[in-house]
Amino acid sequence: MKVLTPVLSLCIAFAIVSCSPHRKENEVKEPSLREAVKDKFLIGTALNTNQIWGKDTAAVKIVKEQFNSIVAENCMKSMYIQPVEGEFNFKDADKFVEFGEQNNMFITGHTLIWHSQAPDWFFRDDKGKDVSKEVLIERMRNHITTVVSRYKGRIKGWDVVNEAILDDGSWRDSKFYKIIGEDFIPLAFEFAHAADPEAELYYNDYNEWHAGKRDAIVKLVNSLKEKGLRIDGVGMQGHLGIDHPSLDEYRAAIDAYFSAGVEVLITELDVSALPSPRRDIGANIADTEAYRQEMNPYTTGLPDSISFAWNKRMGDLFTLFIDNSDKIGRVTLWGVTDGDSWKNDFPMPGRTDYPLLFDRRYKAKPIVKEIINKLKVKNEK
Ligand code: XIL
Repeated sequence: MKVLTPVLSLCIAFAIVSCSPHRKENEVKEPSLREAVKDKFLIGTALNTNQIWGKDTAAVKIVKEQFNSIVAENCMKSMYIQPVEGEFNFKDADKFVEFGEQNNMFITGHTLIWHSQAPDWFFRDDKGKDVSKEVLIERMRNHITTVVSRYKGRIKGWDVVNEAILDDGSWRDSKFYKIIGEDFIPLAFEFAHAADPEAELYYNDYNEWHAGKRDAIVKLVNSLKEKGLRIDGVGMQGHLGIDHPSLDEYRAAIDAYFSAGVEVLITELDVSALPSPRRDIGANIADTEAYRQEMNPYTTGLPDSISFAWNKRMGDLFTLFIDNSDKIGRVTLWGVTDGDSWKNDFPMPGRTDYPLLFDRRYKAKPIVKEIINKLKVKNEK
């Protein structure tokens, strides 16, 4: 018998350890997502403040092992970072950026201009009336310049404007739009670029597979480019359901944005396993306990059929992303574990949802291994 080389002996020892019966079921073995994805696209997650400050050690372990990109779930939004005019609170954001740098991660800033989670002072004068266009533009300029400059060269890409367009392609009637008009978008991109010329700049939204919205965003990208402004990517939030939208609609949107000359980013991926509450219900129906229970059917775990459908859906989405990796720069999950997901409270509070890759006990769902295998197969091609 040939003498085993040291390398071969090591491999055998590793194989024995890997097959050890003590290994827990579903535990992710090497390689991790971040290792398997190689340079196809970045694989990211949103961090909450418990993770940023290292309090949730189990989640932090997953983040470091599995992801190479991070975004802050809330702490960089204007209501947190500038709660009072001129008083910036950078404590959480500084720690978030430090975490990313220490772990060699691509750091995205979310989000500079958004109608939601914006403090009231932004739009009001001292009498409570809407400010003038000039004042709001100056507030935007000051906010964007202060925040982007602070992290110049460290935050590599910014969600500059979030959710400015509705599903039918019309402008959202936000305070920014009402007071400034559609110019608030090019202005925001101009201010962000002036503050950090090296940073990538993105437009981010949900339901971007809707044909009306898709065409309006393509138009927006073209008009920013015509004005000579920098836009690097369109962020598709990816808050999806098991049955909707169709993969064809999603693929068509990826193609449309890529053809407009920007990168596609899947920025806030989660797949809800719950039924969608009706939007048209009156408060009296929505408030009934029976309706609430009907909308929250899996409080103790998913039945096999739903679990199967969820896994298939997440797998199909990743297949789509991997097949289109030449167009996609990053895939970011909106949170680490199911227990932390905002989907437990949106669009209806107090539900138990299962939208992410890691379960409430911090265990990788079987789909994680499947995604890693899909990536491995693609790597071998
Ligand atoms: C959500 C956060 O996950 C929640 O914790 C918060 O209460 C509301 O905002 N689109 C976005 C994200 O761009 O910033 C939102 O995040 C989800 C929808």
